[in-house]
Amino acid sequence: ALERTLSIIKPDAVAKNVIGEIYSRFEKAGLKVVAAKMKQLSRAEAEGFYAVHRERPFFNALVEFMISGPVMIQVLQGEGAVLKNRDLMGATNPKDAAPGTIRADFADSIDANAVHGSDSLENAAIEVAYFFPATDVYAR
Ligand code: CMP
Repeated sequence: ALERTLSIIKPDAVAKNVIGEIYSRFEKAGLKVVAAKMKQLSRAEAEGFYAVHRERPFFNALVEFMISGPVMIQVLQGEGAVLKNRDLMGATNPKDAAPGTIRADFADSIDANAVHGSDSLENAAIEVAYFFPATDVYAR
């Protein structure tokens, strides 16, 4: 089915100047960028976005990392977009990421792991709405 998913290019990948290379992978896989913005997240925004991880031991480090520099946030649309984006990203820990995936190629550690992608269609809707009002997402 045609789906939308939220993608974030994290501060490490923005600093490496690989936004375009990552967008190319989305486009070559048939995913369309239907909303996008660069943003320096506030601490409150990062904490709210990752609220499901609040009790995890890595929460504070994750928030610190996500506010360490600007991120590129986009909505990707396509057939099976949630799973397709997760396949493109590879495993959360770059050590486990398959060759040719975004994290295998651009990530340095489980914290600085280049990209975030929604893990389910249900979370995708929540995450898209967290960053984009419906009027800023373009059907195309
Ligand atoms: P992301 O997909 O953005 O969702 C939560 C993030 O927490 C994850 O990517 C990792 O960057 C980070 N993280 C750090 N340690 C862990 C861990 N042990 N398990 C899962 N995620 C972790």
